[in-house]
Amino acid sequence: MSESISSDNPWSGRFSKQMSDLLVGFNTSLPIEGRLFPCDIEGSRAHATTLRAIGILTEEEFSALDVALDEILVDWQAGSITLTPSLEDIHMNLERLLIDKIGEAGRKIHTARSRNDQQATAQRLYFKSSTNELINAIHDFEVALLAHCKTHSDIVMPSYTHLQRAEATTYAHWLATYIVMLDRDRRRFIDALHRADECPLGACASTGTSIGIDRNLTSNLLRFHAPTMHSIDSVSDRDYLLEFAGDASILMIHLSRFSEEIIFFVSQECGFIELDDEYCTGSSIMPQKKNPDVLELVRGKSSTVIGNTTTLMTLLKSLPLGYNKDLQEDKTAWFSILDSALASLRILTALVRTMSPNPTRMQAATQSGHILATEYANYLVRKGLSFRNAHQTVGCLVKTADRMKIDVSQLPFSEFRAANELFDEDITQMSVRDLIRMKRSTGACGSAFDDTIKAIEKLLERN
Ligand code: ARG
Repeated sequence: MSESISSDNPWSGRFSKQMSDLLVGFNTSLPIEGRLFPCDIEGSRAHATTLRAIGILTEEEFSALDVALDEILVDWQAGSITLTPSLEDIHMNLERLLIDKIGEAGRKIHTARSRNDQQATAQRLYFKSSTNELINAIHDFEVALLAHCKTHSDIVMPSYTHLQRAEATTYAHWLATYIVMLDRDRRRFIDALHRADECPLGACASTGTSIGIDRNLTSNLLRFHAPTMHSIDSVSDRDYLLEFAGDASILMIHLSRFSEEIIFFVSQECGFIELDDEYCTGSSIMPQKKNPDVLELVRGKSSTVIGNTTTLMTLLKSLPLGYNKDLQEDKTAWFSILDSALASLRILTALVRTMSPNPTRMQAATQSGHILATEYANYLVRKGLSFRNAHQTVGCLVKTADRMKIDVSQLPFSEFRAANELFDEDITQMSVRDLIRMKRSTGACGSAFDDTIKAIEKLLERN
């Protein structure tokens, strides 16, 4: 059963006319901020606690509020509360629900509180839980990528620069790049969480209150690290959302690069990876099609996130201090960023868990594109030649191979010897796998890669 809320506006005292219906619709934030309602209930309970501590609420009034807040939360979760748009927002709706339920005690809850600090508090509470959810989703994706790398540790593939085959590496070495990027993302969000972990409740409209509330008490009850240190900043600050948006943009840029690369790798041109049918879509006209829509959508959502980041930045730019109603728009952009990032991470995690690499195609791609060329130059360096001269020598060999329409590795030994007498017969034995194994510098794809994997495992443990 839906609770009906009496709709007289609490600020109606100084007005002689009702708000026009047009303004009611334009002004209300209810269609956007419903998800903050449980946080507003928690904030109100903490506020009631400090009001009790200073005797504004009697023990009985506090208990009545406490029980009423519980009941409202249960009804809200059951979907049996309909909020009233003429009451503007969740805060005035909550107050009205309390008054309708318990009368006088409900009329006292807004002592030493404004919707400005109330909104800021509900937002920070939601920020903490939702950002933690995002941090966990990044972690899950990292874990899925790491498991995939470990299962497919032995596949060789070309590395690319300028989207041209460059050198040889392993599939796991390529894929692990994204874990390293994502782990930086995760840490950026953890940093942002630390800075946002302050409680604005008690700042009231903007300059604090003459009523003796205990801001440390409410901050502790709401599990914040500390109360915010400046009342005006408390109600006008949305830096944590800007930081979040910036961090989310970087995350989504990473996910878009990942998506772009996998789209390329699953194309028939590459055929390096096969996606599971469960995460692909078909065409309404071309019966043969199997499309990587998931990846294209993630690439698309990265634009949404970057666009909303710009929205938040411009929302705050030149905004006077204190609370301004412009700030109501912050939630549309913030929630869109949050939802896009979470959805992208979750679907990519599932996609990675089910995709299969094609070792034959990847190995075959290392057989052309003169992938051994740099290692041939290194061979000459090891025999005492300067790198620049070695580069020149191997460049000439590549030119010869191109003329013969073969890979440089297929040239007969006589060509190597003719190019430089430092080349011995063993040069024709060098394989792509040798090349990979020989790369032992820290972070490289060869035997040193085991250490990189161990370091990544450590990063993922340290949550
Ligand atoms: N709905 C408002 C928001 O989303 C809440 C704060 C309203 N404060 C005010 N003084 N009108 O930001």
